[in-house]
Parts: sequence; structure tokens; C-alpha cells
Amino acid sequence: MDEDIRIGAFICDCGSNIAGIVNVPEVVEYARGLKDVVFADEGKWSCSVDYLATMKELIKEQGINRVVIASCTPRTHEPLFKRTIKEAGLNPYLLEFVSIREQSSWVHRDDPQKATEKAKDLVKMGVAKAALLEKGEEIRLPVNTDCLIIGGGMAGMNAALNIADQGFHAILVEKESRLGGLVKDIAAISYNNETVPADEIVNAKAALIDSHPNITVYTNAEIETVEGYIGNYKVTVKADGSREDLDVSTIIVATGMKEIEPVGQFEYGRDPRVITQLQFEGMLKKWNGECAKGNGKISNSKSQIKNNDVVIINCVNSKNESRGCCAIGCHISVKNALALKARNDGARVHILYRDLSMVREEGSSLEAAKKAGVRFIRFPDDRYPEMREEDGRLSVLVNDLLLGEELTIPADLIVLTTGFKGNDTVDDIKGLLKISANPDGFFQEAHIKLGPLDFPSDGISLCGCARSPKSLKEAMEEGTGAAMRASIPMKQGFLEAEGIVADIDLDLCTSCGLCEKNCPYGAIQWVDEKPQVIKALCKGCGLCAADCPKKAITIIHYSDEQILAQMEAALEERAEEKIIGFVCHWCALGGVDMAGVSRLQYPSNARLIRVMCSARVSIDFIERAFELGAAGVLVAGCEFPTCHYITGNYAAEERIKKARKRLARKGYDPNRLWNIWCSAADGPKFANTMRDMVKKLGL
Ligand code: FES
Repeated sequence: MDEDIRIGAFICDCGSNIAGIVNVPEVVEYARGLKDVVFADEGKWSCSVDYLATMKELIKEQGINRVVIASCTPRTHEPLFKRTIKEAGLNPYLLEFVSIREQSSWVHRDDPQKATEKAKDLVKMGVAKAALLEKGEEIRLPVNTDCLIIGGGMAGMNAALNIADQGFHAILVEKESRLGGLVKDIAAISYNNETVPADEIVNAKAALIDSHPNITVYTNAEIETVEGYIGNYKVTVKADGSREDLDVSTIIVATGMKEIEPVGQFEYGRDPRVITQLQFEGMLKKWNGECAKGNGKISNSKSQIKNNDVVIINCVNSKNESRGCCAIGCHISVKNALALKARNDGARVHILYRDLSMVREEGSSLEAAKKAGVRFIRFPDDRYPEMREEDGRLSVLVNDLLLGEELTIPADLIVLTTGFKGNDTVDDIKGLLKISANPDGFFQEAHIKLGPLDFPSDGISLCGCARSPKSLKEAMEEGTGAAMRASIPMKQGFLEAEGIVADIDLDLCTSCGLCEKNCPYGAIQWVDEKPQVIKALCKGCGLCAADCPKKAITIIHYSDEQILAQMEAALEERAEEKIIGFVCHWCALGGVDMAGVSRLQYPSNARLIRVMCSARVSIDFIERAFELGAAGVLVAGCEFPTCHYITGNYAAEERIKKARKRLARKGYDPNRLWNIWCSAADGPKFANTMRDMVKKLGL
């Protein structure tokens, strides 16, 4: 830009939150002396309606074309100030936000002088970056009203009905010939405090789907290709041997789950008397059918339940070193034990368990099972029940933890409550939609707390047992939730994406392909043998820019020049006392803010530079900090696996290892480079790291 740089610095007192410790007038005076600053002011409450109005006036009056706000945390207040400068006629990307409350006054209360020195440095760093800011723009993508739902189980059907009831078009794709998912294979289900035949629930829901004018259903169908992004997905569906191309705007993944087959465990697969809960459900279902034909009585003697001794073993393939509690196994075991007792009162049913995880509404079925005579035996974590066979008779040897005795229980039938994994289609869907799943084939949400039904890519949401095992009620609620997530942009008619995106200088680019290979979003595509950023897909994590060997990639608002300018400003004086900390905007900055909110006190040596993701931190930045004389460098990101950019923290971790090697080769002590991975609640971890670093670095 050719215009003169005219920076306005607004330093907030935050009542006495900042001004009670930091000498704000001194910081304002200091700011006035910084290059390119044409105006600096102290605001008592900078976020108050009155001061925001004053700020808008001042921006216009003083001809300010870049703004530095030094106040609380950008995580809460940046949108407000962006809006304000926009209302004052400036591009909102011409704002730099400096946190002198969470990073200074609240955490260095015992040393007001150092808190003031640090606040000055932070303002100086903000001004250095502001001078290099460029205009940015939000990307607006049109979004139509067609939603693809992959998976016609209960969650998927609920999602489709919700979408359709809002007047949108739902396209439901099911791999099997019938809708209903796992529920259609089970006998009865607890729903709304009643035990209802599962078929009744499935058939009622499927009838609503069939008769809805806004729903198109493909059965025996699979998704062959998916290309595009929110508002513009091109999908090929193969159904009953023929192919169809669809244009959809949003996608809901509801692919469900399946049992983990306990092959080789307890002679499963070799002895037909050893079955899983799902197979047991099949038996119960058959008996239910026969019972219905006999007007409530099992009339056919062949169908009589001859299995008088039934042993149910819980926690098979779950709650072990590979996976945690399956969350629904205890409930299934109790429900099916009760169903068996209802058909055959004389059956002796034992449930062998480690812990009974029954949520409150399931507690009544536990009491009912006890009343019906089901025996519960708790076994220790390290002594799993064993199966025995003698003269063709099966028995189970179990250590009763409460009695402290070994018991041998005869068994006509052994039912294994086995864990669950994602359905067989997970790998294909994962590749097509560029989303990730855990080793058990359950899809990974964007963030367990902040985006439990979202994927990192806009326009794709997730629900039901595709995410983790859950009850019917929870799965259906998630179906509704995912439909709501998909509906927001469809109702609005567009999606506005942040303008923090990658930009490739094709004159510098040598088409090595590294950026395309590494981008977690598939946002870099090849056009005419050159990479091109699909801005609608790019999230601005900066992984590509940090690794680009030709430095051909810029991240708007987090360019190399801007970050280096912040670093140089911080280290211009007394560099040997300072720690440069790169913190990701999400969990790491959340941890920093939490330390502030909790008023944890730690040494004031760190000068933090915010990046969107730890993946943005290049080895060159780290090396440059040491060249400029920094005492230490800290890279802080989200704890695994919760990076807000899918795999950014994994990339950062790899890079830190390489950085340490490079530092050693160049004669710097690699132990001066630290890193932490934290959650947004990890204030104590951040404060402790600061204390440890200062101690180990001898500051
Ligand atoms: Fe925090 Fe990636 S967003 S490390």
C-alpha cells in the first residue's frame, strides 16, 4: 500500500484491572513516541459504548489508518473492536490487538514496574505489526438448501426429517436395502422410559421419511466421489447399480457403528453357544416374533428358550489398554437379561461386570433386573473370567470380587458384551471428505467441547454412533443437532469465512508440491501445474507457509514480515532477559488467559506472539529469535489431539524436533527451545512453564 501509515494506539485502563498495576499514562506516552504512531489515548473502559463512539470519532478526526488496541484478550474482545473500526470506515483487518491485562497487569501484580515495562513492549510489538497490516476481506460463499445425509440409521433419519421439515431438501444415502441402521437388528429398546420393540420405532421413522416430500432416499447406495466445499459439493452416488450426480451444499455424516467381533475370545466363532449381544438381540427378536404369533405365549415348543444358564460377560474389547468404556454395554446387558427373564422366568442369568456404568434413567432397569433374579458378579480388572468346557458342558470361572471367591457358573449360553467400532465405510468416507477418524473408526469432531457435531471443514457435520457409541436417545438428539448445524448457513443463504488465508506468490514457487501434500484441508489444488489456494477451504493455520522452502506462501494477517517485526520489536532492548513465546490463538492463548483470570503470578520475561496455530511457527522464526539474542523460545499449542486445525500441533511437534537439531548445528543450546501443549483451562501449566523456563534459563 502506498498510503502513509498512521497508527492510533488506544490503551485501556479496564477500570483498575490494568491501571491498578500498569502505569497506563506512561505506556500512552511511550506509544506516542513509537514510529508511525500519530495518536495515542488512554481509555477508562475502552469497550464501553461511549468510548467506542469516541474511538470512531478519533479515527476519523486523526486520519488514523491502522489501530492498536491494548486491553484485555483478543479471544473475547477482538470482534467488538473489529466492528468498531469498520464502523469508523477502516478495513477490520487493519487492527492489531494487544493483551496487557491477561498478559501483564493480572499476572505481574507484585511488580508494577515490570508489568509496565512489559505492557510497553507489547504495545511496541503491536505497533510494529500494525505498520505492516494489509486490508483483508471475508470470503462470502453462497449456500443453497440441499443437504446430503450419509447413513440412514436413526440419527441420519432424524437429521433428514429435521432438514426436510425446515423446507430444505434432504438426500438420504443408505448402504443397506432398508433404513434403520443398527436399531433394525435389535429386539427392543428403552425409549422415553419404556421398552419398545425396536421395529416399531424404526418403521414409524422410516414411514415419515418415505412420505416426506422434501426427502429423497437412496438405498443399496454408496458415495463414490465428493468434490468441492460448503455450498458447492459435487457428489456421485451409486445406487442399485446406477450412478447419479448430485449438487449439495452441506453434508451430514451419520454412518453409525458395529460390534467388534470377539474373534478367538471365549471360543467365539468356534462354539455356537458363545455369541455377541447383537446376536443375542437376534434371538430375542425371533422369540418376540413367535410370541406375538402366539398372542403373548410362546406356542412352538421348539422355540422355548432352552438356555437356562446364561452368562453375560461385560467389557469384552472395551475398558482395556486399547480403548475406554463403550458407554452403552452395561445398559445393553441389563436390558437383554430382563428381556430373557421376561420370556423364560426360570432362566438363571448372571451378568459378570467390572463396573456398572448406568446413568440415572437406566437405574430403574438395574433394579428391575435385580428383582427379576438376575445375579450380578463383579470381577477384578486384572482377572478376566475364563471359559471352561467339560463333557460338552460350558462353564465360566469368575473371581467374585465382593465375595473374594472363585465361582464356576454353568453356561448353556455365553453372551459377550463386546465393544464397538465405526462402520466399514469409515475409511472411504474419511478419504472422500478429508476428515479424520480415530483408530476405532469413529469420526473425530472439530473440538470435543466447542464443536462436538462439526468437522473442521465448514459444511460437514457429524452425529450419532459415527462419532462414538451412544444410546438411541442421544443418537437421535445428535441427529437433530447436526441438522441444526447444517441448517444455519442454508437458512442464511451464505457462509462468511475469515479472510485469514494463505496466498501463494507463484513467482517464488517452484511447484515442489509440499504445501498441497501437507494441507490438512485439501485447500491447495493444482491448476496449470501450479498450486492454487481454494480460499473457501483454507483456514489460515499457516502450516504450508511455515514449511514452504521458497517462502512463497504468505498468511494474510500473520505474514512472516509481521511476525518477524513483532519479534524484532520485542528483542530490540535487553533481549537476553526475554523469552519469545509463540502461542496459538485457541488453547494456548486460552491457557495464557486462564492464568490471567486466575491471577496466577509468574515472571514477566515472556513476550508472546499470537499465531492461529502452532503449525505457523517456522524453524526460521525460532532461529531468528536466538539470532536476535532471545534467552529462550517457547512454542505453545493445543494439547493432542485437539488442535483446531486437525493436525497442526503434530506438524509443530515434528518441526520443533528439527529446530532443536538445527539450533545445535548452529551453536545454540537446543534446550533453550521449549514447548508445551495445553488446554484452554491450563493456566497453571502455562504459569509453571514460565517459572521453570526462567529458572532453567538462569534469568
Ligand atoms: Fe492450537 Fe493448532 S490451534 S495448536
